Amino acid sequence: MKVITASSLVLLFALVFLATHSSSQQIDPLLPICKTVGGGSMYVGIDFCLSALGSDKRSHSTQGYRDLSIIAVDLLTANVTSTAAKIDGLLQKGGGDATTTTIKCLQSCQALYKDIAERQPACAAAVKKGSFKEAQASLQKSASAAKECEAGFGKSRVASPLTVEDDDAFKLAKLADGLLDYAA
Ligand SMILES: *[C@@H]1O[C@H](CO)[C@@H](O)[C@H](O)[C@H]1NC(C)=O
Repeated sequence: MKVITASSLVLLFALVFLATHSSSQQIDPLLPICKTVGGGSMYVGIDFCLSALGSDKRSHSTQGYRDLSIIAVDLLTANVTSTAAKIDGLLQKGGGDATTTTIKCLQSCQALYKDIAERQPACAAAVKKGSFKEAQASLQKSASAAKECEAGFGKSRVASPLTVEDDDAFKLAKLADGLLDYAA
């Protein structure tokens, strides 16, 4: 019995070692790109870049900066669409718990996110036709709009219900912008 136990332990350790060893060999193909774009960036960060781009299946088959920037632009569109819906919902609840100040801030965010959403189709088209500067100008406006939404709550000294959304939109716009710096 003792022999069997000992040898099964050895086998177990061997398996665990192999599993750990082989998974650490599997380097995320997005890593070099995210190091380039997110590594020195005070805005994006490597982890955000990896998890955002990695969340889209298309990233597994493309490692080109231009294609990845299209993915980031699409992620921003999806994000902004859902944030706009969240803002509409919060405003519809209206009165409720929200103070007049919060409602005013939300209304300003509603307009800002509407602008971002409206810019997105032209932004994606610009990337596809190679007008990177045009796309980058659009993305920079959108990053600022997300910042502006968040700052509105701060200035009015009320809690922001959109901190996560504003942060995601800002970072996705910066990520797409950063990828386009390297696109050809
Ligand atoms: C928004 O983007 C973030 C970062 O990529 C992601 O974690 C989140 O799931 C996205 N939300 C939507 C609704 O797309």
